[in-house]
Amino acid sequence: MEKVLEVKNLYATFTIQKKDYEVLHDISFSIKRNETVCVVGESGCGKSVTTLCIMQLLPKNGKIQSGSIILDGQDLLKLPKKEVRQYRGKKMGMIFQEPMTALNPLLTIGSQLKENIMLHRGLKKKEATDLALEYLKKVGIANPKERLRQYPFELSGGLRQRVLIAMVLSAQPDLLIADEPTTALDVTIQKQVLTLLNDLKKDMNAGILFITHDLGVVAEIADRVVVLYAGRKVEEGTTEQIFKNPLHPYTIGLMKAVPNVDLDEFEIKPIPGTFPNITEEIPGCRFNPRCPLSRECPLCTKEAPEMIEAEKGHFVACHLAKEEKR
Ligand SMILES: Nc1ncnc2c1ncn2[C@@H]1O[C@H](COP(=O)(O)OP(=O)(O)OP(=O)(O)O)[C@@H](O)[C@H]1O
Ligand SMILES: [Mg+2]
Repeated sequence: MEKVLEVKNLYATFTIQKKDYEVLHDISFSIKRNETVCVVGESGCGKSVTTLCIMQLLPKNGKIQSGSIILDGQDLLKLPKKEVRQYRGKKMGMIFQEPMTALNPLLTIGSQLKENIMLHRGLKKKEATDLALEYLKKVGIANPKERLRQYPFELSGGLRQRVLIAMVLSAQPDLLIADEPTTALDVTIQKQVLTLLNDLKKDMNAGILFITHDLGVVAEIADRVVVLYAGRKVEEGTTEQIFKNPLHPYTIGLMKAVPNVDLDEFEIKPIPGTFPNITEEIPGCRFNPRCPLSRECPLCTKEAPEMIEAEKGHFVACHLAKEEKR
């Protein structure tokens, strides 16, 4: 399958009070067409920063230090800013937790959708209106004609997220980035939006990068999973590999922190310790202060573990993962 996105050896920093702190360290992964890759990890691990690097929308004090971000064979980091802007929206689209941040409150849904379609598909007004209706239907919006005349504030959160999905998809992007798109919605609506994304995936012919901290969502939507810890990739594999045979103690910890609905009484065991700030220096493996296995291993506090391929397509960066029998 063709690769839509390739992130290679990405390093990024934030400048805080004139000092640079590393926020992403050697991040690599790729997404094929019709594939959904989920990036997971605790709050602050660098999920959103990863998407902002891809979209080239880092805040002012953020900087990509090295690496490449290849979209459809083109390294975005080598493109002039103006051309990157053209890629955004056309070749890659993004949906966020709060759709209002991407919708203009002063314009009707219809005019925003039409504008976007005219811009990215090069269509005339009449064709754009027809297509706007078609996309609203595609994302499961009833009475699409009426909705076109409404303003974003007249819609519920779930509907607004559907409108935003319609907007992004109507440009026919090769890459769809979704950063916690269902976190702000209540559980039933959340489920509906996930089902919608899964259904749309088939005729979208794009790659999907889906960010979430919710492993239940991952199980529902991902083909592959990338686990981040404190700005580093600690594990990557197919959804089945990650759920059936998690190898990194951090991934295992994440699994244990999820309520198990199969059990009558669910037992949640949060990972002990606190998540490090980007200004904190931790020698060796960044997870070692919280790791249940590292105590007897002097290497863990000295050397950062290298990524190894534990089984085909399943990668892990842990000094001890190899010896662990599960
Ligand atoms: N503009 C900024 N300046 C300095 N540090 C920042 C800035 N933006 C984010 N950070 C830090 O970068 C790290 C990664 O942040 P990021 O937003 O990617 O986390 P996340 O994994 O998306 O978390 P969440 O699940 O809460 O959305 C965090 O430690 C955060 O505090
Ligand atoms: Mg985030």
